[in-house]
Amino acid sequence: MSGIEAVGISKRFGTLTALDKLSFRVEPGEIFGLLGPNGSGKTTTVRVLSCLISPSEGSASVAGIDIAKEPLRVREAVGVLTENPGIYERLTALENMEFFAEAYGLKDQAKRAARVRELLEFFDLWDRRSDKAGTYSRGMRQKLAIAKAVVHSPQVVFLDEPSSGLDPKAAKDIRDLMEKMSRQERHTIVLCTHNLEEAERLCNRIMIIRRGVALAIGSIGDLQKKLHGAPELEVSLEAIDETLLAKVSKTKGVKAVRAEGPTSLIFDLDKPEAETPDVVKVLVQAGGRVKSVNILKPTLEDAYLELTKEESQ
Ligand SMILES: Nc1ncnc2c1ncn2[C@@H]1O[C@H](COP(=O)(O)OP(=O)(O)OP(=O)(O)O)[C@@H](O)[C@H]1O
Ligand SMILES: [Mg+2]
Repeated sequence: MSGIEAVGISKRFGTLTALDKLSFRVEPGEIFGLLGPNGSGKTTTVRVLSCLISPSEGSASVAGIDIAKEPLRVREAVGVLTENPGIYERLTALENMEFFAEAYGLKDQAKRAARVRELLEFFDLWDRRSDKAGTYSRGMRQKLAIAKAVVHSPQVVFLDEPSSGLDPKAAKDIRDLMEKMSRQERHTIVLCTHNLEEAERLCNRIMIIRRGVALAIGSIGDLQKKLHGAPELEVSLEAIDETLLAKVSKTKGVKAVRAEGPTSLIFDLDKPEAETPDVVKVLVQAGGRVKSVNILKPTLEDAYLELTKEESQ
């Protein structure tokens, strides 16, 4: 079992409750997204589960290992990228990678060299391998830090905002690496991100937290359904008039219809995929000139903003 099971994890710093009885599972091989506003407890969750700090309450197993009983084994089984990249500025990229590979127990020199080269090439750092990490740009350091975090091919990888501050190509490289690690090598990945598009593209399931409490856990589809019910249908026409609206509102399956702007109609349907052809047919027969038809699915951003909004005092 190389996933994660967390049961009732709390973490207090003095009087501040950073995590409040969090329970969740991460299935082996999945990419699990941790989303939430600044200060909601994402990094604290990662630090607890990778045994950098201990929880105030609760229990967890990571890669099948109990975090309270065998923290050292947990540390060997996980790779962590936190806010602090933890690379040696005065060593070259190659020396950094060699150092960490050895520290993680990659004893065979030839295998170690091959792994280091594979990772440095993957991140486009091979040509700069002999430069000191201290002379690297922010993005290059971030890539080196991720390469370092996965050098020992850990079963579970925690990546805390891996693509923040990276250019689009570097961010894509990192996404590609995460996908490759998850799909091909069956690594389990916990990804903290503020980039909702990234989460939508990569994560099998996500957890949205606020003030250390899980607001929602599930696939992106689950969260969207939970919040908004069925998707809506948007039809753009050259023009809309009252007769058109009256006729179409009586079409089977149309629960409600409203005009949005002078040329768009928004339909609330029972089953948009099944009912759209009839709605379009009725519009055309009533003289409507249809320009485009779109099924509007709520985005992860809609779900996130709805869930994390603070109730007004
Ligand atoms: N070592 C610490 N001592 C005291 N308070 C801490 C410590 N670490 C975290 N906290 C507090 O715990 C809460 C959660 O912080 P955490 O870093 O986990 O948030 P986050 O979700 O990662 O935020 P961000 O999106 O800004 O990275 C915050 O209120 C933070 O101030
Ligand atoms: Mg954080």
